[in-house]
Amino acid sequence: MSIWETICDPFEKSDSVQHDQVWYNGIVNETMVKGIFISFEGLDGSGKSTQISRVRSFLESCGRRVVMVREPGGTVISEKIREIILDVGNRGMAPAAEALLYAASRAQLTAEVIRPSLDAGMDVVCDRYVDSSLAYQGWGRQLGFEQVLEINRLSVNGTFPDITFLLDIPPEEAMRRTSGKGRADRIEEEAPEFHRRVYEGFNRLAALYAGRYRVIDGTGLPGEVSRQIQQILKKELIKRRGGV
Ligand SMILES: Nc1ncnc2c1ncn2[C@@H]1O[C@H](COP(=O)(O)OP(=O)(O)O)[C@@H](O)[C@H]1O
Ligand SMILES: [Mg+2]
Repeated sequence: MSIWETICDPFEKSDSVQHDQVWYNGIVNETMVKGIFISFEGLDGSGKSTQISRVRSFLESCGRRVVMVREPGGTVISEKIREIILDVGNRGMAPAAEALLYAASRAQLTAEVIRPSLDAGMDVVCDRYVDSSLAYQGWGRQLGFEQVLEINRLSVNGTFPDITFLLDIPPEEAMRRTSGKGRADRIEEEAPEFHRRVYEGFNRLAALYAGRYRVIDGTGLPGEVSRQIQQILKKELIKRRGGV
């Protein structure tokens, strides 16, 4: 079995609701339903932050407990790694070093926040996750999907999103939206050609992982984009209640 198959299998989860016994203070006191793990992907400027805050309000209005995190970062240690990654003073960083730093930041976030939150029944909404590494370092930096996936195996330790929203807007539109928004970080300041490759990488990932990807046209008004996202989340919530 190739590494591609062994790693990719967990991406395509079955539709069944997962029940787990959860330990509180050393006592198994209830059977809990795991939270939903939702990731948002897309270029800078595609509307992730805008939509994530709307998703949070939507899920909370449905009575759910929500944890929001961003990558790289989301923990004290991960935020320190983020500073190194995004520092424009580090222009000489080798692609492999960059990929490993992202993976290190992700390992801490997954272990410290994402996994425990999901296990406690909370939904986790993540602004970028492993797919960003595949698109940016795997495709943009041309390290290859397989190689980047391999180093991330340890980071995610079997924790993959249930749903990945890819906000699809043309790279030129994304660059237009972010231009004049303050100082660009080390990744944002890359040439347009790099961002076009990343865009292509995301499209390839959406085709490879069609089971968990939901490609959303991000060019509409924010309200229209969030309407599409909420429709998908409503279906997911109904499915988890055993309604469909
Ligand atoms: N659907 C949309 N249409 C037009 N502009 C948008 C839309 N969504 C977000 N924006 C604007 O584009 C910029 C980038 O959005 P943001 O949510 O920060 O994207 P990201 O988090 O993906 O970088 C912001 O100025 C935001 O107000
Ligand atoms: Mg953002």
